[in-house]
Order: sequence, then structure tokens, then C-alpha cells
Amino acid sequence: MLRTHTCGELRSKQIGKEVTLCGWVHNRRDHGGIIFVDLRDRYGLTQIVFDPKSNKKAHSLAEDVRSEWVLAVTGKVRDRGEGLHNKNLDTGGIEVIISEIEVLNKAKTPPFEIDGDVKNDDLRMEYRYLDLRRERMQKNLKLRHEVCQVVREYFSKNDFLEIETPILVKGTPEGSREYLVPSRIHPGKFYVLPQSPQQLKQLLMVGGIDKYFQIARCFRDEDLRGDRQPEFTQFEIEMSFATEEDILEAVEGSFHELTAKLAKDKQWQKFLVKGKFPRLTWQEAMETYGSDKPDLRFDLKFTDITAESKKCGFGIFEKSEYVFALRVEKGAEISRKEIDDWTEIARTHGAGGLAWIRVGEDSGPVAKNANPEFIKSLEKKTNGKKGDLIFFGAGSFEEATVPLGQVRLAVGEKFGLRSPDEFAFVWVTDFPLFLKNDQGEIASAHHPFTRPHPEDLALLTKEPLKVRSLAFDIVLNGNELGGGSMRIHEPDLQHQIFEVLGMNEKEIQMKFGHLLKAFQYGCPPHGGCAMGLDRVVMLLAGEPNIREVIAFPKNASAQDLMLGAPSVMPDKEIREQNIKIVEK
Ligand code: AMO
Repeated sequence: MLRTHTCGELRSKQIGKEVTLCGWVHNRRDHGGIIFVDLRDRYGLTQIVFDPKSNKKAHSLAEDVRSEWVLAVTGKVRDRGEGLHNKNLDTGGIEVIISEIEVLNKAKTPPFEIDGDVKNDDLRMEYRYLDLRRERMQKNLKLRHEVCQVVREYFSKNDFLEIETPILVKGTPEGSREYLVPSRIHPGKFYVLPQSPQQLKQLLMVGGIDKYFQIARCFRDEDLRGDRQPEFTQFEIEMSFATEEDILEAVEGSFHELTAKLAKDKQWQKFLVKGKFPRLTWQEAMETYGSDKPDLRFDLKFTDITAESKKCGFGIFEKSEYVFALRVEKGAEISRKEIDDWTEIARTHGAGGLAWIRVGEDSGPVAKNANPEFIKSLEKKTNGKKGDLIFFGAGSFEEATVPLGQVRLAVGEKFGLRSPDEFAFVWVTDFPLFLKNDQGEIASAHHPFTRPHPEDLALLTKEPLKVRSLAFDIVLNGNELGGGSMRIHEPDLQHQIFEVLGMNEKEIQMKFGHLLKAFQYGCPPHGGCAMGLDRVVMLLAGEPNIREVIAFPKNASAQDLMLGAPSVMPDKEIREQNIKIVEK
């Protein structure tokens, strides 16, 4: 190495020693002839000192040095002196008085300060290599590395084999639009980038691998959000001859191990999780919290008041299939403006509006129209006391629950119930097998390989939307961390599911012939799960966006501003790919 120590390493025990450090100029201060530089590398900062009395040549070279220049410096470690120690810095007790300096490289003035908070996200992405020098990014990438190490160690230790699956595959329909790669040597044909290794890990089970894991790259051409990137990473498993319980245990174990390993460092101790994670069926999660990814850091539950509402005197409730109530204490602290804002939130999530009453008061349309018996039974059932506010969700099951679930989150936010220092894991199980997509067609709620709940098999053709599945999601603080399921391993049942999804024989064979073929050669019962690695690291790091834990992410318009991707390609290369660009 060009250095004897890193910039985070020196302490008082090295005082008197001659050392060589390499790094970037974090900042430079000229104090009446003596120049102080904080030299930075991945490991920390060290104060280096250029004193003309000690070494004239080094001092005069240091006069030209600017931020982000790359230096190699040699000098003696010394105590900073009485009253000059910096307690906020690991190396804050010492400094290095420099005798030799070599400029390894100069740097242009960076477009933003490495030390500061950069507001312009596009600028950060364009100069991501500079952004990565910042302490926040260095910490996040280190954490990501540690998470990957624990995942590898944990699953290997438990007999899972790490196996890479290909990136150039055939369509893997899991609900998102796919990225296509044209084949040069097979004109008119395409590879598809995998949305996940789903089918391949199932084929590994047919191949007798028994227990598989991978830290796998996945690609989905979908609208981006804070927790979504077009290219992301899952740590994911598949197990043969296993029950749902075995899979949940394997995943829970990985989180126990992860938080235990991290908890060795004081800053992560608060995240240590032990014991079994609570479980809710999808039905319970929806009718209690209005979400299939409930935030259980706070215990604010809905009350089902459908029966009481049937003859309540308030027309909207009487006509509604379902009515749920959410009682909030300290209602007096909720302003009219907040109720208006939350009404807007409810509307954007499918509600016509947001009905409410203040317990013991006559205000609002519900209190004015509903009969007193209803109000009384409502107060009793929700345990409402004077001063409480009760919000309502009414309509179809979705309309009555989802918007109220969002109001619940807003209430949690207002009263500071969503602590960033707490981890509340929960499994949500028994998801519906199918849902109606935007075109009104039956579609898989997870993916078409999900096993129907054995109790609902008879409903498969008659009432598919009522069929539950053996699918589960792992949820942390209101975020979906991962999802999995028991799979279909019988070719006939798998075929039947494709039919329910509206595929004809030709389509089934074209899209899934390979899978049905494999299932005819002795497919073991199996199941698995996949966790969003980026989301796990994001939550551990307390970051608001997965971009902060990915070295080279795409921006909100799916561009890589640093590389300039996607980009125009030369005509020759496009012709070689047998592609013709059509002007829109
Ligand atoms: P699913 O589609 O639920 O399941 O994905 C599993 C987890 O991957 C993460 N994730 C994403 N993270 C970042 N950006 C995205 N665009 C993105 N999409 C998904 C989420 C999610 O919970 N093959 C199945 C798993 C299985 O059945 O074993 C699958 O991919 O954290």
C-alpha cells in the first residue's frame, strides 16, 4: 500500500511515530502561516499540519492544495495539545506534522460540497462518484455489505446453496412490464431480464437442489417510487419438502441473525429482534388496519360497525356493504385543517370523503343525521369517550378499509407513534389468490405459481376471487420487505390456474410449456420467499429512499445521469440487432 495507516486509524498510542497517509483533502484552513488539512478516506479524517518552521517545502506545496485533491503525506504523529482535542472525531486527539507531501492527483472544484447536505438530487446522481465520498453514503454502502455477509453466512450455515441464475431469460410474468433484450443471432426474438428468479428457483427444486438462496438482481419496468427501482436486489430462498412454517422460520431466523450481528455495534442495538413475529391473515390485516402491510408500531385498530350501520339513519352508511370506525384519543388536538387534509388523503385512496364525529358533540353530518341509538352503540363498541374523534370508512370492503388505513397512518404520524427507533415485524398470510386488474380481468395477486389455499380449491373455477392462497408477506413498520408462497407442484393444478387466468392452450404452452414439462418429471412440493435487500438496508439505515443504499441507482425517470443511460445507439449496432426505430 502507498500508506502505512488509514485516515481513521491513528490514536495517541502512535504519537511519535512516522506515518504515511493517503486521501482526499476534506478541507483546508490557513491559520496565519500554518496550514491545517483534514485528510479523508473511507475510514475517517485525520488532521495534518503544514508548518513552515517544521518543513518549508511541504508547507509551500500545501499552499496550492485545494478541496478533493488526492495526497500522499508523510510526517510524525503528535498530540494536538491541551484543549485542542476534538471529541467528535476518533482521531481527534492527534495530528500529523507533515514533512513530505506528494500530490497524487488534482481535482476540479466539485459541483457540491462533500461535507454538506446536497438538495439537488439530479446533481448528486450525475456526480455519484463524488456523492459516494460523503459520510452518509459510505456508511450506507458499508451497512449493505454487512447485510449481504450476514445473509450469505446465515443461509449457507443452514444448508442453503447459493446458486446464480441467468439474467438473459424468457418472460417471467409476475405482474410488471419486462425489459427486453433483442437477440442478434435470432432475428425477431428477445430475451427478457428477470423480474425475479422465480421460475428458475422452482426449476432448481425440480433439479433436486432442495435448499437454494441467492442475492439476485431483478429488473422491472414499472413506475418508480421511493422504495422501487427498475433494477433492484432480492435475497431470496426456495425450499423443497418444506411447510409454510419452515419457510417463515427460515426467513425470521435471517432477521434475528441480522439484527443480532448488527446489534454488536451500539447504534443498532435498538433494532435487535427476537422471538416469533406476529402473524395476521390478509383478511385480519385489512379489517383491523386497512392495509396489507400494517404498521404495528402503534396499536390503533378499526372496529367493524357494519351491522350497527344498517339502520343508523345516515344514508351513506346504510347503503354501504361495510362500515368501519377508527377511534382516536385526544381528538381535541386534531384541527379542522388536519381533518380536511386527511379527507384528501382518504379521497386519493378511493373514498368518496371522510366521515367523522366528535364524541359527545353534535357536529358533522353523521352526528346530525344518525339516530341516537346508533351513536350510543358506536360509542360503546369503540369504547369512545368525550373528546375522542371517530373516523369512518364505508363502501365495498376495499373502500371501507384502505382509505381509513391511510388516515390511521396520518394519525400515527401526527402523534409521533411511528418511531424510527422501533422495529415492528409482522407476517401477513393467506392473501387472495387472484384480484381484478385495471382492465377488469382476473390476475394473480402474487404470481401464477402461488398455491391456492387447500380449503378453497372448490371455489377455483366458480368464485376465483374468493380463493385464498398460501402466500405471505413479511412487513416491517408498514413496509413490504418481502413476499413468498407455497408453490403449485402438480402440472394439472398449475394448468388449471393458467386457465382461470384466461389463457388458452397455445398461450399456456408458449409462455409456460417449459415449466409444465419439468413438473411432469417429479417436482417436489416446495415454497420460498424473497426479501427486497434494498428495502431492508434502507430501513436499517433510516433512509427515506432506496436510492440512498444503492451505489449507482436510476433517478425518478429511470435514467442513469452519470452514465447517460439510456442512450441513443449507432445505427449500425441497431441494424445488427434487427431493430427498426419507429418515430412516434
Ligand atoms: P415480490 O414481487 O413480492 O416477490 O418481490 C419481493 C420483494 O422484492 C422487493 N421489490 C422491490 N424492491 C425495489 N424495487 C422494486 N421495483 C421492487 N419490486 C419488488 C420488495 C418485495 O417485497 N418471486 C417472488 C418472491 C417469491 O415468491 O419467492 C417476488 O419477486 O421488497
